[in-house]
Amino acid sequence: MIDRINRLLAEVEQLHAINAEELENLRLKYLSKKGLLSQLMADFRNVPADQKREVGMLANKVKDALTERFNFLKNELATTEEDHSGLDLTRTPYPVHLGTRHPLSIVKQEIVDIFARMGFSLADGPEVEDDWHVFGSMNFADDHPARDMQDTFFIESHPDVLLRTHTSSVQSRVMENAQPPIRVICPGRVYRNEAISARAHCFFHQVEGLYVDRDVSFTDLKQVLLTFAREMFGPDTRIRLRPSYFPFTEPSAEMDISCNICGGEGCAFCKHTGWVEILGCGMVDPNVLEANGIDPNIYKGYAFGMGIERITNLKYQVKDLRMFSENDVRFLEEFMAAN
Ligand code: DAH
Repeated sequence: MIDRINRLLAEVEQLHAINAEELENLRLKYLSKKGLLSQLMADFRNVPADQKREVGMLANKVKDALTERFNFLKNELATTEEDHSGLDLTRTPYPVHLGTRHPLSIVKQEIVDIFARMGFSLADGPEVEDDWHVFGSMNFADDHPARDMQDTFFIESHPDVLLRTHTSSVQSRVMENAQPPIRVICPGRVYRNEAISARAHCFFHQVEGLYVDRDVSFTDLKQVLLTFAREMFGPDTRIRLRPSYFPFTEPSAEMDISCNICGGEGCAFCKHTGWVEILGCGMVDPNVLEANGIDPNIYKGYAFGMGIERITNLKYQVKDLRMFSENDVRFLEEFMAAN
């Protein structure tokens, strides 16, 4: 009897099961009602009285060892089955599909980097703004047409709250919190109540620039913009400034670059003029400095604002503005190389 138990004990450590069926066979063989353990226990009554104590202890030991081993195998099987569920371990490795940055993000980053190299730091402001930061502090007259419902999305229950129509509102946000020297670049999304078409959208993106210090001149503005244009569109790019009007700058100008699609020869994109407009700019109107807490007798500034979609179109010739917000992966994947 003692030999039988010892042989069984030695067996226990060798027990293995690689699947549920094998485990069940082990259970039947050792732990079921007709299994080896039960037989052992049944034969216990034939053990001579003086050996009962020793045999009893051994029998309990084998019972514990068997149950423990069985539970261990059951556990092991459960975890391996879990880990492999749904995994095809025979499959060959395949290339992982990488996403791309959105073309507008690529171009925004390029613009920000160019100005960062000229010492501009990043600033931003809220897209849901108030009338003061978008219009009032930017020297818009109360009856300026841009405030019209036709152009601006207002919040119906709060006439003072609106979706910003330009990033110029960030100029005000920066100036009210800081004194010169100020040198910031502010990219962001803006909203206008436009019918959506290939050429217009109800939201788009702009980058605003603002420089305020003593002795700032229009020449400084022109040189910074020329440097930007050449960095962005290539060293042969030419610029020209045409007089214009914005409420927040005086004098104001619009800047054209030599068409980078035809190199200034004339093509459909530049309407055969050789020039394309890319931004608005000017010297910050003294009223704007004053409204935002900066003394116009001491400080001067220049500002500019451009549309990121426009710059992206020029670089990548995207013909339909709607492509930027449709999230068609075939379009987005075209920018893989630019990432
Ligand atoms: N805010 C103008 C717009 O949305 C763009 C602009 C023009 C910004 C001239 C400026 C500027 O800072 O000086 O059309």
